[in-house]
Amino acid sequence: MSQEAIDPGSESRRNFLGVAAAGFGAAAVLGALYPALQFLWPRQKAEAGGGKRSLQVPLAETPVGEAKFVRFLNKPTVVLRPNEQEVFALSAICTHLGCVVKWNERSGELDCPCHGGRFDTKGNVLGGPPPAPLPGYAARLDGDYIVIEEA
Ligand code: FES
Repeated sequence: MSQEAIDPGSESRRNFLGVAAAGFGAAAVLGALYPALQFLWPRQKAEAGGGKRSLQVPLAETPVGEAKFVRFLNKPTVVLRPNEQEVFALSAICTHLGCVVKWNERSGELDCPCHGGRFDTKGNVLGGPPPAPLPGYAARLDGDYIVIEEA
């Protein structure tokens, strides 16, 4: 009866190589997912000293004439770019009964799907039951970003 000799060092080398391979694999997956995670959760930060909170939205994600929906201050927010020079950021919560408005690309308006409320790109009520404009945030162009800040 013969038994193969087992080198105790080879077992720990295999374990080490397995752990190292798993670590490199996890790092590769996280590296590949990082751009997708940045897209889904854009940078939102509070300025030092407890100042206003802000959010940077890549300009490339908000072409002229379109709207981009993001979460800002943990609320649905719409970023609008009606032309090259202007940007607006508005609460996307309808002031009637709180439905989330939708962008109507054809009319260039924000429409509320619940009761037919309509708003322009500055949040002003154009029609329907909403009693007040959509609240706005400060928004400005800054290089390749639109920066939204608490009002
Ligand atoms: S909730 Fe928007 S029009 Fe009623």
